[in-house]
Order: sequence, then C-alpha cells, then structure tokens
Amino acid sequence: MLLAVETSCDDSAAAFLDADGRVLAQEVFTQPPQMGGVVPEIASRLHMEVLPGMVSRVLVSAGASLEDVRYFAATAGPGLVGSLLVGLSFAKALAMALNRPFLGINHLAGHIHIHYSGAGEVRFPAVALLVSGGHTALFHMTGWSNCTLLGCTRDDAAGEAFDKTAKMMDLGYPGGKALDLLARTGNPGAVDLPSPLGATHSPEFSFSGLKTAVRLAWESGLYSPEDMAASFRARVCGILTKKLFFQARRFRAVSVLAAGGVTANSLLRESLAAGAARLGVDLLLPPMEHTTDNAVMVGRAALAELDHDPGACSPLSCNAFARWSGEELSRLCC
Ligand code: KG4
Ligand code: ZN
Repeated sequence: MLLAVETSCDDSAAAFLDADGRVLAQEVFTQPPQMGGVVPEIASRLHMEVLPGMVSRVLVSAGASLEDVRYFAATAGPGLVGSLLVGLSFAKALAMALNRPFLGINHLAGHIHIHYSGAGEVRFPAVALLVSGGHTALFHMTGWSNCTLLGCTRDDAAGEAFDKTAKMMDLGYPGGKALDLLARTGNPGAVDLPSPLGATHSPEFSFSGLKTAVRLAWESGLYSPEDMAASFRARVCGILTKKLFFQARRFRAVSVLAAGGVTANSLLRESLAAGAARLGVDLLLPPMEHTTDNAVMVGRAALAELDHDPGACSPLSCNAFARWSGEELSRLCC
C-alpha cells in the first residue's frame, strides 16, 4: 500500500510495504564505485536509469500495480542533492499523477525507523546510535515522534573512517566489510591508537585524528594488515559502544536502537549485544540486509508518520537538501 524510494547516495532502492510495515517486495541496486568513491553526477544519472525498472519489478513481484499504491514516500535529505532529486521527483510525479499523498522523509529518521513495526513494539525511553558512511550520531527518544540529537561527529563519520582506512590498506571501496573480515584474524591490542573526543560522557565523536594515527602506524611498516585492521576496528567499536551505553544509563533507557551501515560490523554487533545484556535493556539491531541504505526504512518512517497523523503529507514543492542540522529529528522534511 505504500511505495518508498531511496536515492540519497549511490544505492538506488524501492520497497512496497503493507500498512503494518511488512515488506511485500523490495530491491536495492548498489552502484559500482567510481574512481574509488562516489562521483555525484554519475550516481544521479545511474539512479535515473535504474529507478523506473526497479519500481516496476517491485510492484510486479508484490502482485500489485501503481493503482494499488495509497501513499508515495521518498528520501528528501540529507544526502547528495543530485541523487536525492531523482528519487524525490520520481515519487512526487507518481503521487501527482495518481492523486495520492506524498511524504518527503529525512534519511536519518529513516535509518532509525527500520525498527518501526507499529507504535507499541519498541519500549521507551530509548537511546539510538546512527552509524553510517555519512553520519555518526546519538539520539534520545521518548517515543517514535520524539527524537532529540545528543551529539554527532565533528568531522568524519565512523563508516567514512572505515572506508578511508580500508582504502589506504588497498581493501577497495567501500571497504568497511573487507576491513571487518580481515580484522577477525588480527590482534586488537597490537597497535596503540588514540581515542579522540574519547571521554565516555561526551556524546560527540571525532574520527579524523584516529584515521591519521592509523595512517602513520601503517606507514611505519611495523604492523601486519590483520593487526592494523583489528586494532582500528576495536578502537572504533569501543568508542561507539561506551558512548552509547553511557547515554543509555544517563537517560535510564529501556531500549537501545542501532542503525546504519556500520551496524553490519561483526564486532560492533557483539559489543552492543554484550552491553545491552549487561545493562538489561532491549537491543534492536537491523537485519544485515537493512543495515545499509534501503527503501524499507524510508517506507517505515512514512508509516510511522501516518500512524501519528493520518493526514500527514508533504507539499509537492518539497525539495532535496544536503545537510541536516537541528536538535529535534522529524521524519517529515517538508
Ligand atoms: O548506511 P550506509 O549505506 O551509508 C550512509 O547512509 O551514509 O552505510 C555505508 C557504510 C560504509 O561506510 C561501509 O563501509 C560501512 O557502512 N559498512 C561497514 C561494514 N559494512 C558496511 N563498516 C564496518 N564494518 C562492516 N562490516
Ligand atoms: Zn544511510
């Protein structure tokens, strides 16, 4: 009943969900890396080529047609504006042609709403960690419609630090997964790495100094790739975990939510599970396929908004935006 589209970076995604947020069909196309990264214009053009066929396939595999779609949703930002405009314009055009409501969704709220399956399923208060290629942030949530930023990264995102470290070690792009695999056979205590902004009580992060320290250690030639990867991974996961659980204790959270591409990291998943068990709180981790960008999360954020306000909709003038700043994270952008 709801068709969602996500094109904020280099993944094109579409999902068709029922009113309870169950996935009737979905698809994600991960674009091949260009020159070791993302080239915005190439990414936008690829979204343009891929999206129409993808949406048709999603509807066919759900046994539905466009007329069955009650609501259309798309990510409006933050992200690469050229990429966002493709999915946004596509979903708005369909909504306009079929005279259905359109919802422009915040990508960060989308990541967190991968855990939404109806208003009563997650217990609050909660603390959420969003950790992806573009973002690293902590939020305090007293309900699905009350999500307040506690702190975020002052420079690189954790996923970006994984990708830059992996690139330096010739592990390809995006290299977070390859680095995670390599780290499994390394010694996490081999390289002594700093913890910038590492004070447990600070909800802010900084990863660019860590990245520089890793480069210097790597260039010294003293360490094996496995030890380098294991030490870097342990440092990043340690910082994320201790800051998250400090805030969970501070707000007497009964749930901890984690979302974003870096939650695919095997050590982070283990550390979060151990931390949640120690504190006696519920832990919500996305299934592996929904850690990185997908349209299911966008669709669930739109459904949460509709559950909150059945008349919710964005104007068709809703525009793309590159950056989000503010304290209160809303699902609806316009
Ligand atoms: O959520 P996402 O698709 O991007 C943004 O919205 O920004 O996350 C992609 C990021 C990349 O930086 C990628 O290297 C990282 O998630 N990632 C990982 C792992 N799998 C993906 N990082 C660490 N360990 C992994 N296993
Ligand atoms: Zn994302």
